[in-house]
Amino acid sequence: MKLLDRVLSCPKAELHLHIEGSLEPELAFALAQRNHVDFPFNSVESLRAAYNFSNLQSFLDLYYACADVLRTEEDFHDLMLAYLRRAAADGVVHAEIMFDPQTHTARGISMATVINGLRAGIATARDESGISVQLILSFLRHLSEEDAFATLKLAEPHLAHVAAFGLDSSEMGHPPSKFERVFKACRDLGKPVVAHAGEEGPPAYIIEALDLLQVSRIDHGVRCVEDKALVQRLAATQRPLTVCPLSNVRLCVFKEMARHTLPAMLDAGLCVTLNSDDPAYFGGYLGNNLRAVQAAFNFDAPTWARIFRNSFNASFISAEQKAEWC
Ligand code: HPA
Ligand code: ZN
Repeated sequence: MKLLDRVLSCPKAELHLHIEGSLEPELAFALAQRNHVDFPFNSVESLRAAYNFSNLQSFLDLYYACADVLRTEEDFHDLMLAYLRRAAADGVVHAEIMFDPQTHTARGISMATVINGLRAGIATARDESGISVQLILSFLRHLSEEDAFATLKLAEPHLAHVAAFGLDSSEMGHPPSKFERVFKACRDLGKPVVAHAGEEGPPAYIIEALDLLQVSRIDHGVRCVEDKALVQRLAATQRPLTVCPLSNVRLCVFKEMARHTLPAMLDAGLCVTLNSDDPAYFGGYLGNNLRAVQAAFNFDAPTWARIFRNSFNASFISAEQKAEWC
């Protein structure tokens, strides 16, 4: 079997995936019709044509606009099931999936609708493929600390179904320090925390996420290479980085895949995992990310084995389960 085929079929975990970012244009249109939502695009093609991003914010504007079609438990079920079917086809046996409750509660959709719908989709997919899933409740960093605390309160009845907490949305101007107290409250609940840092933001934001938020892993983190001491620290501690190659190219963090810092990060001994971030918007699911990386860098079999071992080691699954998959 060719190496790329082995890479695609190899069991792996996906740790950086926004469920709202898996909303394909076809499903968005179907849900807009089902829910009688006035959608600002008149065809799947015109929506797809808008997938032309210059930076993170230009993407987020469209991502939040499209999320408006998600209204009912059934919608969240359908969204989750569609993603998990695609993930299973790419060899994903375990996924840790972020959702952004504030995107929905701000529109009058209840926390229960979101979480019950997502859980129903997970249950259907588990019956189909056996895939294992955990949910990460992500706070929107462009909103206030007060809003994040109110969201944490709304999540209280559902905490048994929340494995961890995260931080996403517009990075520049919203450093991790803004959420130090919120993340302390999350950790006090006994939950691990993760945060986007060093995607567009400087290495200092990664240091804040480590020191102030005490994150278990960094989402993206690709700008760490600008700070030698930080790279040494990340290598020494093996703090995982959930890298999303197609996302970084589509959001112009790197001009092209060949310029991605992934090889430098691996050479530095970092615990790198590969993920799809917002696959409906960035050109594909995990398999397409792996194809694009292999086309650019032609990694050998031991490098791929290391990346997939990292994906399990960086996950929140039990030591016994890790031993089985690694
Ligand atoms: N970065 C920050 N916030 C996000 C992203 C991302 O890539 N995707 C969805 N929310
Ligand atoms: Zn992300």
